[in-house]
Amino acid sequence: MISDQYGGSLFGIFLSLISAQSKSDGICEELLKRKGSNPKEICQLMILYEQDFTKLDRIKRLNIVNSLSGVRSAILIGSISDKGNTNLAIFNSLMHIGSNPPLLGFILRPETEVRRDTFSNILETNCFTINHVHQAFVQKAHYTSAKFETEISEFDACGFSEQYIDGFKAPFVKESQVKIGLEFTEQIPIPINGTSLIIGQIKWAMIADGVMDEEGQLDLSRVDDVGISGLNTYYSIKKIAKFPYARADQLPEFE
Ligand SMILES: Cc1cc2nc3c(=O)[nH]c(=O)nc-3n(C[C@H](O)[C@H](O)[C@H](O)COP(=O)(O)O)c2cc1C
Repeated sequence: MISDQYGGSLFGIFLSLISAQSKSDGICEELLKRKGSNPKEICQLMILYEQDFTKLDRIKRLNIVNSLSGVRSAILIGSISDKGNTNLAIFNSLMHIGSNPPLLGFILRPETEVRRDTFSNILETNCFTINHVHQAFVQKAHYTSAKFETEISEFDACGFSEQYIDGFKAPFVKESQVKIGLEFTEQIPIPINGTSLIIGQIKWAMIADGVMDEEGQLDLSRVDDVGISGLNTYYSIKKIAKFPYARADQLPEFE
């Protein structure tokens, strides 16, 4: 249990607050004196301060921080080197950058720590593909994150089929029902931690029939798309609502 591992530390104490409200009254009082918050609200929540994060072991910190940003899309990035070696890797940091021109971006971990085949390939060939992950192949997709030798293609190692479309150099994942071909446009360094934002412009988007509605919205539950929280926990996606464009003078009656 986390609280055993960190027993005695402030962090351990806060973790144990989750289900032991009655035991924690004294601690809460202390905390409240410092923070000046409402006891009833604060004592039902686990609280982690900045200094608690620095005390955590690397993997636990990585999992907590990665989960705090919520469920994000699971995608497979396909790429190819100048020599023709293909690569496939799972990513969870895909983001919309803008729609005119149509741009998507993802966060690349520091290039100094380990070899980054995906990015070297992108630099060599100026293109890459983004392929949505579906429940049918979520396990295989997860294992593309293993560090295979550059010469070993994760397409082969993890059982995916390469698909090439109309002269686009980078490989698509045949099994994926939503796939996008992108041209690399820029790398924006994030100096605080050595990561960078990699931006690509959409050249292709291939979407399975029946997924897009008349307005262009994709219902990703129709293809059993998968989301990720942390680095190893996968979620199914279920469409629960759709609302019109929000205007301040057209508010509905909220329940
Ligand atoms: C669920 C999950 C999400 C990941 N997301 C990212 C990410 O957003 N950015 C990143 O640089 N690496 C991410 N990784 C790690 C890469 O998948 C891993 O480093 C992979 O080996 C990269 O392959 P490459 O060296 O072939 O480029 C993630 C791993 C997992 C398991």
